[in-house]
Order: sequence, then C-alpha cells, then structure tokens
Amino acid sequence: MTEIPEHLLKRSRERRDAIGQGGDAAPAADAPATAVEKSASATPAAAPPPPSGPAGRTASAEPAAPKPAKPDPHYVVAAKQRRKVPFWAMATLSLMPVWGFVYVRALTEGGEVSEGPLAAGAEIYGNCASCHGGGGGGGVGYAFTEGEVLKTFPNIEDQVRYVYYGTEQYNLAGVEVYGNPDREGGPHLTGEQGVMPGFGGQLSAYEIVEVICHERYTLGGADPTSEEYAAEYEAWCSGEAPVFEAVESGELDLLALEEAEEFDVNGETVIVVPVGPAPVAGRPGASGE
Ligand code: HEC
Repeated sequence: MTEIPEHLLKRSRERRDAIGQGGDAAPAADAPATAVEKSASATPAAAPPPPSGPAGRTASAEPAAPKPAKPDPHYVVAAKQRRKVPFWAMATLSLMPVWGFVYVRALTEGGEVSEGPLAAGAEIYGNCASCHGGGGGGGVGYAFTEGEVLKTFPNIEDQVRYVYYGTEQYNLAGVEVYGNPDREGGPHLTGEQGVMPGFGGQLSAYEIVEVICHERYTLGGADPTSEEYAAEYEAWCSGEAPVFEAVESGELDLLALEEAEEFDVNGETVIVVPVGPAPVAGRPGASGE
C-alpha cells in the first residue's frame, strides 16, 4: 500500500472545500450542508414548488431562460397566411346527403305525404293520450282503433262538434246519443263511459280538425284511398286540404256556419255541414254528407 503524504491530503481537502465539495473530510463544512439538506427536504412537503426556496434553487432556475424564437421559414409563413377552409364548411357538407334525399324526393313525389293536419294532429293528440291511450287503444275514454271512432262519427263534422263541446255541453243540451244513433255495436250514450272534456276553450277549431284527422286516419285506420273516405280525406286532412285551409285561415268558421257549404276538391263536390253553435243529436249518414 502506498502512503499518501499528509500535506498532499491537506491540499486536496482545501481544494475540494474551495470548490464547494466539502464532503465528509471537513467537519467544519458538515454542519451547513446538513442544514441546507434539512430545509430542502422540509420545504417540499409543505409547499411543493416554492419560489422562495434555498439559494441553490434560484441558481438552477436561471438557465431555463427561453431561447429567442427562430423566425418561421417562408413556406411556413405562406401556409399560415393561406385562407383556411371555413368552419361551417364541414357542417354544410355533412348535410349533403339530406339535401340529396330531399332533392330526389321532390323529383319523384307521387303520393300524398303525412304532412299538414295529420302531422300536427299527432302532436295535439298529446292532450288526449292520457285517457284514450298513446296509440288510441282506449282507457278512461273509448278506443279509436280498428275503425271504432268511425263507427261513432261517420260524419267528421259530428266529431268536430263533439270534441269542441264535450260531455258537459251535450248533457246540458239534453242530447242522449252523440254520433251515429244506428252505430254498429250500439249507439254511444252521453256520459255512459265517463266525462269527455270539451276542448273548445283550449284548442282552436283548426287544431281540433288536426287532432280529429289523426284520430280517424292514423289511429282509426280510415283508408284515404277508399271510396268511403277519399273525398273527406282530400277535403279535410290531406296536405292541401281546402276545408282545413279555410278553417285555419279563419275564412271558414265551422261553428258559425249556417248552412251547408260546397267545396270543390279535385273536381268533386264536398259538402261541409254546419258543426254548430251547440251540440245536436247524432245523425246517421256517410262521411261528407
Ligand atoms: C280526461 C279524460 C279524457 C281526455 C283528456 C280526452 N278524452 Fe275523449 N273521451 C273521454 C271519455 C270518458 C269519453 C266517453 C264520454 C262518454 O261516455 O260520454 C270520451 C270520448 C271521446 C270521443 C268519442 C269516442 C266514441 O267513439 O264515442 C272522441 C272522438 C274523443 N273522446 C276525442 C278526444 C280528443 C280529440 C281528445 C284530446 C283533444 C280527448 N278526447 C281527450 C275522456 C277523455
């Protein structure tokens, strides 16, 4: 083993002290080093990133000064200045299939679409579903399905009157049978099943026509192409039904009508009979009579 001369060891120790690597060799340097270690290990627990940390930390933070940004090359500048695709373009493009669909439909339109009174009537029917069932299958009130409502009201005008006035007014007027007295399966007697509220105060006349179209054609199953209902459907419930349009515009006041009025529907005459100013006893007869 080679002995290192004491004076060399001392010089080495001094040198290390001078550059701050005191280490275990110098007991004098030991105390401050532990103090720094302690404060350094105590601080992070209390507050993880302390800006007022020990001196060593501030020194190490300095080299993080940001480098000056390099200017963009000309092609990047050009790309940044180019006009972007407008934000609404994607939304517009995504509607292309819908537009295509509508376009093709417009070209090939043949039959009648479920629009107008029927579509609106389906919404208004929300007022009726609680008692008559969402699909018209009945509940507290009668069912409309499988032609039931058509048996009661062969004339759509009678149904308008009934929904407008409701059970109470029929009772007050002393009307015992509403709808067709010769009804298949027996006539419906006022109040027999319960109380049908009058909707005259709640819905306007054209809304009542809408919901009745829904009850007769969508729920009741009347066939708009059948001999029996074609004229009524075209006049009252189709997309461009003239009677409905007259009621909706206010031109025709169903309740104030005094005598039957004729409508020309595709070259055929459809007669609208007065609905009311008051409930009347049911009467037999075919639709539109
Ligand atoms: C609170 C429950 C209730 C609500 C809501 C209701 N109805 Fe009625 N409806 C009845 C009852 C009960 C009867 C049977 C009345 C009777 O026995 O005299 C009836 C009868 C009817 C009839 C006659 C059916 C037949 O074949 O005799 C029609 C049409 C009708 N309602 C349409 C409507 C429409 C349209 C609405 C919504 C705008 C509606 N009802 C909302 C309870 C209701």
